[in-house]
Amino acid sequence: MPCKRFHAVGNAVRFSFMTGTEWWRTAVIYQIYPRSFADANGDGMGDLAGITGRLPALRELGIDAIWLSPFYTSPQHDAGYDVADYCDVDPIFGTLADFDTLQRTAHELGIRVIVDLVPNHSSSAHPWFQAALAAPEGSAERAHYIFRDGQGENGELPPNNWESVFGGNAWTRVTNADGTPGQWYLHLFDTTQPDFDWDNPWVRAQFRDVLRFWLDRGADGFRVDVAHGMIKAAGLPDYTPPVEGGSMGGASVPEPGIVAEWAETAPYWAQGGVHEIYRDWRLVLDEYPGQRILAAEAWVDPLSRVAEWVRPDEMHQAFNFAYLETPWHGAALRRVIDDSVEAFSAVGAPSTWVLSNHDVVRHASRLALTAENLQGHGIGPKTAGLPDTVIGLKRARAASALMLSLPGSGYLYQGEELGLPEVVDLPDASREDPTWFRTNGERYGRDGCRVPLPWEGAAPSFGFGPTSSSWLPQPAEWAPLARDAQDGVAGSTLELYKLALRLRREHALGLGSVEWLGGFADDVVAFRNGDVTVIANTGTASVELPGGELLLASEPLAGRTLPGDTTAWLST
Ligand code: GLC
Repeated sequence: MPCKRFHAVGNAVRFSFMTGTEWWRTAVIYQIYPRSFADANGDGMGDLAGITGRLPALRELGIDAIWLSPFYTSPQHDAGYDVADYCDVDPIFGTLADFDTLQRTAHELGIRVIVDLVPNHSSSAHPWFQAALAAPEGSAERAHYIFRDGQGENGELPPNNWESVFGGNAWTRVTNADGTPGQWYLHLFDTTQPDFDWDNPWVRAQFRDVLRFWLDRGADGFRVDVAHGMIKAAGLPDYTPPVEGGSMGGASVPEPGIVAEWAETAPYWAQGGVHEIYRDWRLVLDEYPGQRILAAEAWVDPLSRVAEWVRPDEMHQAFNFAYLETPWHGAALRRVIDDSVEAFSAVGAPSTWVLSNHDVVRHASRLALTAENLQGHGIGPKTAGLPDTVIGLKRARAASALMLSLPGSGYLYQGEELGLPEVVDLPDASREDPTWFRTNGERYGRDGCRVPLPWEGAAPSFGFGPTSSSWLPQPAEWAPLARDAQDGVAGSTLELYKLALRLRREHALGLGSVEWLGGFADDVVAFRNGDVTVIANTGTASVELPGGELLLASEPLAGRTLPGDTTAWLST
């Protein structure tokens, strides 16, 4: 089922604010999770028309681009990361015409649009997989995915010991047409997400068409899902995890916080063969005008390895998950900033910075967790070390102010500009993350960071949509965090983000560099970026600010004293 090409190139409006430097090197890119951003038709599920209607608020916020999590045809077993048609919009989100309107409106507002590409696996409902199931063993259709005979006398054991990221076995056995048990297929994620065989040239050809479909429509680029997983080690060997457990983040973690559990040595992550795919895609993108980009979701360790994804002939950006995983701790932050700048600049790429997304505990909660929390496990009522919300918000504001002062490109996740915390008390019956089901509730999963946004504190569903419906319940305590309760209110988190984004642009911080300042305690991150001095105090003892006009403070200051968990920007 080839993607039909769209012939009218949709980017009639191109960007007047280009200065000769590629936009993505310094851009602040805002992640929209379509299910939860804004609901135009009142069915409780966000949609593309809802996003279009709210774009002016993002223009006011001051971001450069949006990244849309998947809105394609999908049975929604993994919130759309299970794609059944790569070239159409799921009816719950709207139509291709709605996408075109969204994109045109964004471009008119000077906002670029990045779509999510999910190439590691499709949905099991995709016609390609359905054809594979219907075809005999050894057929061309089966060869699009990874089918193998089982082990054991009657093939009753999975082909190897790989585990799904969401918990449980990574293989599912199929039933033949005559009712007998058949081969097994690989799914690194949910059973409904069969992995493609990327060694198969047919798969590569289909995805070149998918890229062109969205590029022809005018998309400014792709965030590439599981960009470290598409090639598996030859022979699919068993995986023996390192005794100590691996880390996605590199630096050892000196404080309780987020700890990764995906080990870098797994025979399905970070295999060298993935790079050939991205070189091929880069040639496709380079055929198009307007600096279209590829951004890698590659949970790879250490940063010098992540940088391989952004060599000059591969992708443009890679998410900096090492930064996301770094605890709120001065020395650890200084180290990860140095490592990031060094690793990415060694290949001529900008560093990116990110604190939250739809897969991790929101940083307004995560930075105040007091016990270890594994990435992807989420938090819920029974989690040990639940955060103090006041401390969490204070740290989140300070951490965001620090992040937005760094050179390179930053990623924001919808709702962080409102200071939204993770929702910890979702009713079990409302949960949808496959992690919750595949672990029988042992891991809460990611629903707590996906709760629909509050736009208007006094409206039904806090203005998420025109009715009181929202696919995950919104906590009553969110009323004062709603956008209208913060808009124009001095000191609100929303105004802090707006100020930081405006100053970042005015002082060209994205193009700058980090020049460390001495003379501060170990838990203080202090540096100069161009004509701005940044001081982030991760400790408890107050710090005397140096001279210079105060441009921004993440909390109200008494005089020239910077309390703990606070960041300030000063003119030098
Ligand atoms: C990526 C996505 C995540 C999804 C998984 C499988 O990690 O960010 O949400 O569940 O891939 O597609």
